[in-house]
Amino acid sequence: MSRHGMNSVEVPETRTPFARNLRRMRRLLVYVRPHAWRAVVGLVAMLVATLTGLAGPYFAKLAIDRGIIPHQIATLAWIVAAFLGVQVVTIVAQSVQTYFVGWAGERVLTDLRTDLFAHLQRLELGFYERSRAGVLISRLTNDVEALQQLVTDGLTSTIGSTIALLGSAGILLALDWRLALATIAVFPLMSLSTLLFRRSSAKAYRAMRTKLGLATAALQEDISGVRVVQSFRREESNLARFVRVNGEYRDANQATVIANAWYFPVVGLLANAGTAIVFGYGGWLFIHGQVEIGTLVAFTGYLSNFFDPVQQLSQLYNTFLAATAALDKIFEVLDVEPRVADRPNAHELDLVGDVQLQAVRFGYRSDREVLHGLTLHATAGQTVALVGHTGAGKSTIVKLLARFYDPTAGAILIDGHDLRDVSQASLRRQMAIVPQEGFLFNGTVRENIAYGRPDASLADVQAAAHAVGADGFIEALPDGYETQVQERGVRLSIGQRQLVAFARALLVDPRLLILDEATSSVDLATEERIEEALGRLLAGRTAFVVAHRLSTIRRADVIVVLENGGVIEQGTHDELIALGGRYRALYGDWHGAALTLA
Ligand SMILES: Nc1ncnc2c1ncn2[C@@H]1O[C@H](COP(=O)(O)OP(=O)(O)O)[C@@H](O)[C@H]1O
Ligand SMILES: [Mg+2]
Repeated sequence: MSRHGMNSVEVPETRTPFARNLRRMRRLLVYVRPHAWRAVVGLVAMLVATLTGLAGPYFAKLAIDRGIIPHQIATLAWIVAAFLGVQVVTIVAQSVQTYFVGWAGERVLTDLRTDLFAHLQRLELGFYERSRAGVLISRLTNDVEALQQLVTDGLTSTIGSTIALLGSAGILLALDWRLALATIAVFPLMSLSTLLFRRSSAKAYRAMRTKLGLATAALQEDISGVRVVQSFRREESNLARFVRVNGEYRDANQATVIANAWYFPVVGLLANAGTAIVFGYGGWLFIHGQVEIGTLVAFTGYLSNFFDPVQQLSQLYNTFLAATAALDKIFEVLDVEPRVADRPNAHELDLVGDVQLQAVRFGYRSDREVLHGLTLHATAGQTVALVGHTGAGKSTIVKLLARFYDPTAGAILIDGHDLRDVSQASLRRQMAIVPQEGFLFNGTVRENIAYGRPDASLADVQAAAHAVGADGFIEALPDGYETQVQERGVRLSIGQRQLVAFARALLVDPRLLILDEATSSVDLATEERIEEALGRLLAGRTAFVVAHRLSTIRRADVIVVLENGGVIEQGTHDELIALGGRYRALYGDWHGAALTLA
């Protein structure tokens, strides 16, 4: 996601990495809270498993020094029994830990995903116009996925390994401090290689995430743009691009493979060096009667207890990097404030239909204004036609009327209420927009028409379809109104989708109807049929119509001619023709075009 895509303000990062992690974890904890008791049970079980796990080598020492060497069968039996008992506790605790931590972790992820989805739904259209769809989808999939390991296993393993590491070190020192110090002498080397490993894997990891994002984005664009890709024969070059990005991703992965390939053997070697010290120096101490043989056995046990966590922590480090990066990306999306939001005291609008634009200024970006102080008035029930060249700002006005954006200056009043003071729900409930490209959701034709009124009866749906002339083609579909539109090869043409969108708008019986080049994708015959229906569609409600077709424009009460984000002419058809200005010129063009077509 580009920086200004998320419109995050660049804050100089003054916090230490530790403080940042603390903040992340605190935020994640909010999601753990509802599942607190299970998480706590899991955590306690983890502590128990770690601590009892530490007891094993000590039992070996007791068995040898108190049972085997002095030939104390009874003592040995007790020790063996205790050892087994402790192992059972460890295994039960591990099982409880895995279950409860996993249980809570999965719920945390589910809640996070739901929150993300809910938040994305709250964000205004402008956010989506600024963002890449593929990137947003990857927030909900890849990034939540990357958290999985951390939440279900990583956090507890990190704590567990740390305790095991410190515990083993403590026990080693308590058992024999000279031998402990001698074996721990390999620790500086271990630390150094761990440091190098972390540095290279962190770098590789960051590169990996970036490359994965690029590969995903390339894939997503290729799939959604497949029509263009194939019609312009870009398959080869797109494949080449993908091969390159994919190769870069592999190379980034390769760097982690290399790091793993040297680091883990080195740690193994150092652990063996530690064991060698136990055998050499420990053996010398034993021969001189300064240490019991059981202590040496316990030492070798604790050494692996000591080195295993080092390896585990290094492995977890990658998980941790992945997860924190993902967490930051997820929180970044969650932190995007909707630019268009209801005011705390927003009131319900009971729409009559008087619409006023007062000196409205607007730009998608602060450095490029699109509307330069636009003033317009439509009284209730009027039809306003917006005409003008491509890029004049017609669709922008439509988006402002639906309050997908707020004006940067000036105001839009509906029935005298500033749009910013009314609730979006009440506004949108009473208005309908038919865009240029009708969108169909997975489901039946009937469900698609009833999208704004899911409880509408079939008769209502059929009436709406009939009114816009969509009934003919719908009845010819394999299952009529119950035809699944995204399945079994049933695809509607752009024009048919447009008709469904018309019916959808009509069914909600809006007070304010907006058609944005809604008839531009249907054929002439269909358009004429809609044209007939249009009289019924527009009657009794305020309507803004962006259209090319003269007959549609002509029936408007007011025609507004836009150019470069301003109104240059305004009036009825006859007035504007009489004026002999821009409309006259445009009308001449269309008239000529219509004549040649006819
Ligand atoms: N989402 C957007 N982000 C940035 N600029 C936009 C966006 N949509 C439209 N524009 C710009 O605003 C101007 C008006 O566009 P629009 O209202 O769609 O024109 P029309 O519908 O009249 O063809 C154009 O210059 C266009 O480039
Ligand atoms: Mg447009």
